[in-house]
Amino acid sequence: MPRYAYVNGRYLPHRDATVHIEDRGYQFGDGVYEVVTVAGGRLVDESPHLDRLERSLSELSIPMPLSRRALELVSHELIRRNGVSNGIVYMQVTRGVAPRDHKYPAHAVPSLVMTTRRIDFDAQPKFTDGVSVITIPDLRWARRDIKTIALLPNCMGKQQAYEAGAYEAWQVDGDGMVTEGTSSNAWIVTAGGRLATRHLSSDILHGITRRTVLAIAVEEGVPFEERAFSVDEAMHAREAFVTSATSFVTPVVRIDDTPVADGRPGPLSRRLLAWYRDYAAGLRETT
Ligand code: PDD
Repeated sequence: MPRYAYVNGRYLPHRDATVHIEDRGYQFGDGVYEVVTVAGGRLVDESPHLDRLERSLSELSIPMPLSRRALELVSHELIRRNGVSNGIVYMQVTRGVAPRDHKYPAHAVPSLVMTTRRIDFDAQPKFTDGVSVITIPDLRWARRDIKTIALLPNCMGKQQAYEAGAYEAWQVDGDGMVTEGTSSNAWIVTAGGRLATRHLSSDILHGITRRTVLAIAVEEGVPFEERAFSVDEAMHAREAFVTSATSFVTPVVRIDDTPVADGRPGPLSRRLLAWYRDYAAGLRETT
């Protein structure tokens, strides 16, 4: 089955899908994106993802390329054409094509690209075995709440993690507090048994999986705190994990050279993963 990409109004064979060399996404990283999980043919948390896309665009004064309804139709059509029942939809909007000039062009038309990828979320050892993370200084800009495609510090951090044999790098602010992973939010279960994840601000991306996991915690009566935690606190935590559209709830069993507790995925992380999987499969509702 050929794989299609959606590019500015057309469904093209993936290998022939291209954008113009003066697209501002290519030249300036002037654009935003979303990664939405597809589970059992459904887009998980589609509406909050589109809310975040709209917000990221509005913070950068880029118009929506299509109405929300049209974005939904395109993403559903693309997963249908590509036969994706489990995986992701990637949506990217840039300010569009214009002669290179830093200031925003007066009349650019935003570019919209969508692709899909199949992922077998069931067959992933990270969920059962857990993963390692390293800690690195947070080198990014001050508007991490905007889901920009300008991800160079994130790529540098992920490469460093890869070279260290780790799954993720937890970025650390100037006060020694963890902000988030390079492509995931960071969590611990404190020594006192409470969930903790950094509070929302422009220091982190407002993760959609983070939001859903907190809603599940409320429903299940799991106590939590939205606050920053230090690397030292994380190393002494009962459990740790990361969340994202592709990581779901992935247990963290080692931070740098320190095992988290007994070095195995913790019970609350495992329960949250199971609840989140049920939610993604449409077997439980949450707000
Ligand atoms: N990344 N923090 C950062 C820096 C991220 O890039 C992501 C997602 C998250 C988690 O957000 P969400 O729960 O909405 O996926 C947190 C996506 C998956 C990516 O870049 O591939």
